[in-house]
Amino acid sequence: MKRILFVDDEPRVLDGLKRMLYPYRNDWEMVFVTSGTEALQLLAASEFDVLMTDVRMPQMNGIELLAEVSKRHPQVVRMVLSGTADQEMTLRSVTLAHQYLVKPCDAKTLRTKVEHALNFHRTLENPILKQIIARLHSLPSIPSVYVKLMGALQSPDVSIREVGEIIAQDLGMTAKVLQLVNSAFFGMGRHIATPAEAAVYLGIDTVKALALSVSAFSQFNAKALSFFSIEALQQHSMAVGFLARNIAKSLGQSRVAIDDAFLGGMLHDIGKLVLASNCPEQYQRVQHLAQEKAMATFEAEREIFGTSHDEVGGYLLWLWGLPDAITEIVAGHHRLTVDPELTGTPLLAVYLADGLVNAGGEHEVDRLAALGLGDHLPDWKSQRDAIVGGNRC
Ligand SMILES: [Fe+2]
Ligand SMILES: [Fe+2]
Repeated sequence: MKRILFVDDEPRVLDGLKRMLYPYRNDWEMVFVTSGTEALQLLAASEFDVLMTDVRMPQMNGIELLAEVSKRHPQVVRMVLSGTADQEMTLRSVTLAHQYLVKPCDAKTLRTKVEHALNFHRTLENPILKQIIARLHSLPSIPSVYVKLMGALQSPDVSIREVGEIIAQDLGMTAKVLQLVNSAFFGMGRHIATPAEAAVYLGIDTVKALALSVSAFSQFNAKALSFFSIEALQQHSMAVGFLARNIAKSLGQSRVAIDDAFLGGMLHDIGKLVLASNCPEQYQRVQHLAQEKAMATFEAEREIFGTSHDEVGGYLLWLWGLPDAITEIVAGHHRLTVDPELTGTPLLAVYLADGLVNAGGEHEVDRLAALGLGDHLPDWKSQRDAIVGGNRC
C-alpha cells in the first residue's frame, strides 16, 4: 500500500484532511504530523512514497523541510498544500516541490494529483537517475543567455517582453517558467503557446525574484562538460520546435495541438541536458558507443543507463508539473508506432520534425506512405531547409 505523510502545523487542517480522505483509507496508508521535525524522524525510520506539506509553519517551515527531504530522501515525491500568498515563499516551494496544490483542495483533486504522481513515478526504472532528477531544482543554461538575462534584469526599464525573448532562447529557463506557470499558484491549467508568453504571464517581478532571489537559473559549465555542446542542443531544439509547429499546421491540427507541437518540439531532447550535465562520465561513454557502433544516441543511452533521454526528459517535466500533452511528447518521441490516429497529434509532428532535422527524413518515406502523408515530404523538407539554413545538427 502507498504511504503518504501529511505535515501541517494546524491540527484543525489535519483533522479536515483526515475526514476528507477517509474514503481512501484502503488504498493509502496516511500518517499526519504537525511539524517538520516529526516528519523527518518518520521519514528516517520508515519509507514513504509521498510527502504533502504546508509551507508556513513555525520552527522548521515547509521550504526547509522540502530542502531536507530532497537531500536525504530524494525518492519521495514532494508535494505542497499551501494557503500562503507570500510570493517568495511560494516561488521557493514551487521550485523545491514536484507538485504544488492550493488550500482549500477538494478530495478528488488531491487524490488525482497523488495518483498521477505515483503512476508516473513508476515510469522511470533506473533508481539512481530517479534520485538525480528528483534533486534537480534547475537545469543549466547557455552561459551567454544567462549573462544576458541577468544583465537585462538589472536594468530598471527592461520590459517583460524583452525578458521573455531571452528566456525563449534557453531550454532550462523555458522549462522553469513553464513549471511556474503550470503550478496551482499561478492558475494551473492555463494554455500557454510560447515561453515568452509564459514569462509575460508571470510578470517582471516574479521573473526577477525567480532569477535573483530564488536562483532558479544556473550556468552550464562549458569547461567541465566540453564534450557536450549546449548551444548545438538549443539550435536543434528550436529547429524541431519551429518545424513541428509547421507540420502540425499542415496536418490541420487544432490550435492547441499546434502550440503543443512547438513547446514539445523545443523541449523534446531536454533529457540529454539532464544526463550530460549530471552523469558526464557515462554520457561520454554514450557518445563513444554511438560513434563506434554507428548507433542512434537514444540506443546507446539505453545500453549505458538502461533508459534514454526521452524517458528522462518526460519524467523531469512531469515531476515539474508540465501539462501531460507536453510530457507525453517528450517521453514518446523515440517510440512511435504507425497508426493513422496519430495524424491529429502533436507527438507525430515532433517525431517527424526531429527525423527531418536530424537525418533528412529519408528514412521516414515508408512510414509517411503508411500514414498517407507521403505528399507532404517535399514541402516539409524545404521548410526544414529554411529553418536550419542547411546546417543540420
Ligand atoms: Fe531525442
Ligand atoms: Fe532530437
